[in-house]
Amino acid sequence: MNDVLDFVSVRLDDDNSELIILDQSKLPNELIYHHYHTKEEIFKAITGLEVRGAPAIGIAAAYGLYLDAKKQEDLKSEEFMANFKRTKDYLASSRPTAVNLFWALNRMERCLFDHKEKSVVEIIDLLRIESENIRSEDEAVCYSIGEHALTLLKPKMGLLTHCNAGTLATAKYGTALAPMYLGHKRGYDFRVYADETRPLLQGARLTAWELHEAGIDVTLICDNMASIVMKKGLIDAVLVGCDRVAANGDTANKIGTSGVAILAKRYGIPFYVCAPMSTLDISRSCGDDIEIELRKGEEITTTWYQKPMAPSGVKTYNPAFDVTDADLITAIITEKGIVYPPYDLNIKRLFEGGQ
Ligand code: MRU
Repeated sequence: MNDVLDFVSVRLDDDNSELIILDQSKLPNELIYHHYHTKEEIFKAITGLEVRGAPAIGIAAAYGLYLDAKKQEDLKSEEFMANFKRTKDYLASSRPTAVNLFWALNRMERCLFDHKEKSVVEIIDLLRIESENIRSEDEAVCYSIGEHALTLLKPKMGLLTHCNAGTLATAKYGTALAPMYLGHKRGYDFRVYADETRPLLQGARLTAWELHEAGIDVTLICDNMASIVMKKGLIDAVLVGCDRVAANGDTANKIGTSGVAILAKRYGIPFYVCAPMSTLDISRSCGDDIEIELRKGEEITTTWYQKPMAPSGVKTYNPAFDVTDADLITAIITEKGIVYPPYDLNIKRLFEGGQ
């Protein structure tokens, strides 16, 4: 059997000419890899959640920008730059909330600007290297988040997680799931509770699948069962990922996360956000400044059901993310270390090089 950590959710093929995406919208029933060549295909893969999870979206977009640049090697420098900018803006419009998308695209653009004196062919190769760096650095970042998070946990603990912040959502290991994988290898015997995560079931389809494949003790619960497992004393810590953390620590993550944080506070359970530095966005002062993606109502009424499970024409409201207020967060775990309140001060210090 394959180790689940060997499944790569997004990567370039051996010729560096196509993007291979493990289609997360089909899991756990089908393990399908798509081979994409064009920016339109990659845009559709992001909006359609074939590739999802903040870091994986950023990696896919960076590869998309490289693959599109590669097709333009006959263009003169000025036209090449103009096309790059158009493709960057196009990919950036795929999803609004996860800042890693913009972070990765900006990093690719910086690479272009830093080498603008070079030939188009040389620039294309540098873009390939930069996109590969974004992927490989994410793997190291996730490993480091896992190590830091593990210092907060003890063997046999009960852990609750929401959505999927696992290996599928990143280059490898995940963010919130990284300590579970590292702990598993070291005999920690965690008991993990995975919220199913309505409406798109990332917790059931992806988190429960990943952890189950890895042989980790995982129990799937509906979102509205988080309170009972907490009250029964089954949960010692909550670990979640994030899509964007504002300068004051307010954190956007999958819809339902803020409710879990409120419950955790009620029951005195630590609530940890696992965040790569690429997810911290100090240009947003607080959660109100974070754009929340609204998705189609059919995701609530119809998707996953054989028949519609709501009256035809009923109004729906389907925000894909919510913001957890900073005062509900016990700590933010980054690759550089663990950040405690006051977040405004300590996140700033982190960017200035302190821990
Ligand atoms: O809509 P999704 O599935 O892309 O949302 C993903 C999440 O909210 C994850 O929890 C977050 O991106 C962290 S992934 C390490």
